[in-house]
Amino acid sequence: MFDPDPLIVAHRGAPKVAPENTLAAFHAAGAAGADLYELDVHQTRDGHLVVIHDASLARTTDVEQVFPDRAPWRVRDFTLEEIGTLDAGAWFDQRFAGERVPTLRAVLESMKGGPGLLLEVKHPADAPEVAERLARLMPLAPPLTIVQSFDWQFIRKFQARGQRAVLSRAPALGELTDIAQYAEYVSVKHRLMTPAYVRRAHRLGLKVLAYTVNRRPAMRRVLAAGVDGLITNRPRALRRALETSVCFAAPPELATMMSRLPKGGRLCPPAPSPTTPAPTPAPETPASGTPVHAPVPAPAPVAGTLSTRPIVPLL
Ligand code: G3P
Ligand code: CA
Repeated sequence: MFDPDPLIVAHRGAPKVAPENTLAAFHAAGAAGADLYELDVHQTRDGHLVVIHDASLARTTDVEQVFPDRAPWRVRDFTLEEIGTLDAGAWFDQRFAGERVPTLRAVLESMKGGPGLLLEVKHPADAPEVAERLARLMPLAPPLTIVQSFDWQFIRKFQARGQRAVLSRAPALGELTDIAQYAEYVSVKHRLMTPAYVRRAHRLGLKVLAYTVNRRPAMRRVLAAGVDGLITNRPRALRRALETSVCFAAPPELATMMSRLPKGGRLCPPAPSPTTPAPTPAPETPASGTPVHAPVPAPAPVAGTLSTRPIVPLL
């Protein structure tokens, strides 16, 4: 069923406005209204958990200048002290010069009281004792924390430790029954997602996140498929679109029920009379100058019903 209030998960923070996987990006995700921020964890040579997407430091830091003879600059070949000398912001924009590759502990402490967390452990098989180290930090994590990895063995092991919600990546339809024994969420590439997949997962008690959903048509498609959350590089645009572009069918006498709609929900506008052509709304333009909404005509409400299922998400 359509989830009228899906989780907005800010992929690597808000990587369109700040360098991915940095404190600046995570705070930007919170400011954008994300329900969760997503990050990636690697382990250093001396056993510290740091937040960075790639296995190599090269793309998102100045490591090639600072340590020119250390190719291929793998995170696991550097100590925390060495990584702490690197700039993780200037590659994105000079305004962010001085950003560091943060430790997981620093992120959790800095984001206390903020959004929930989708925490991805990268290549846990190459990181001895990463499950134990992660478990020790979990008391600092927000109440809604989902741990994910592409390594299902790691997920099983972490779950067995009695940790909170875990997630595995895009299993095939036939694998969902087994996955449901130990995972609470599945994360699926949005292009592979179908309504049948989501229905099957839901019947097994699994929630479904779609990644990485950045464009309006994809948002519309996965929302209609009934996903429980969208992982996106554009959390602010998605928040704004969900708040203003989803309408709920209801007869006018039930307009007072507006207050019970999910946050930001609104009732659909009245149906145009058969003789009057429906007006085409002008596209809304946010402060950034990027149009968020396509000029899609509003749908007609279904008379006499109040549905928690929007007639159409007008993203
Ligand atoms: O949540 C899934 C997504 O984060 C996986 O993609 O490569 O950005 O870690 P990636
Ligand atoms: Ca990730």
